[in-house]
Amino acid sequence: MTSIKNAKEFLRQPRLRIAPSLLASDFARLAEELQRIESAGADMVHLDIMDGHYVPNISFGVPIIEKIRPVCSLFFDAHLMIEEPDRYAESFVKAGANGVTFHTEVCPHPAHLIEKLRGWGATVGVGLNPRTPYTVVEEFLADVDLVNVMTVEPGFGGQKFLTPMLDKVRALKPRLRPDQRLEVDGGVNSATIRDVVAAGADTIVAGTAVFRAADPAAAIAELRTLGAAAAG
Ligand code: DX5
Ligand code: ZN
Repeated sequence: MTSIKNAKEFLRQPRLRIAPSLLASDFARLAEELQRIESAGADMVHLDIMDGHYVPNISFGVPIIEKIRPVCSLFFDAHLMIEEPDRYAESFVKAGANGVTFHTEVCPHPAHLIEKLRGWGATVGVGLNPRTPYTVVEEFLADVDLVNVMTVEPGFGGQKFLTPMLDKVRALKPRLRPDQRLEVDGGVNSATIRDVVAAGADTIVAGTAVFRAADPAAAIAELRTLGAAAAG
């Protein structure tokens, strides 16, 4: 069960966080995989939820989160790559998500969903696809806890990092308060993390780089060391 009593409080402290994406784990052994990354020093678990409409892939949903919640105490960072996030967000929070990130272009009233998520005690994130400029979420920036800059096309793990997205990270950094997190999502590994952190990111999603590593603890430690050095 989660040890996170206050999700907002957990996120507001500015420090580097490594968030392995469960998408790259062995789905036949979810409990073991979660315990493995928890003892390996992960800060949170990134949950990529895909509906086959918003993205051309289907991953997992509410029943899986309900099942894995009792076996892991880490912050669950749910990334909804789904249409109608306003319709499903509450069920993800009830299932155990501590934070919910949604994409505003598929949500008719983002401000309403932001307010509802707050009421349910979850932190709020907005996601930016590679083709979405940060200006699309500018009017909501003050009201969110996290911005997720996607550095691959959403839908699949294991893709190549899109270097031009670093400009978006750099542009967003000065527009966020110290208590707001800047998350980078997709293609982050030991070769790309330095640039990501130097550009201003503090919350690092890493699926393939952690779960497909021979030694996930060493992979997390390496990301943390490289990231901390780049943070300067
Ligand atoms: C892509 C997802 C990412 C991705 C990260 O749609 O949002 O979270 O799975 O995985 P890696 O680190 O393998 O790129
Ligand atoms: Zn994601």
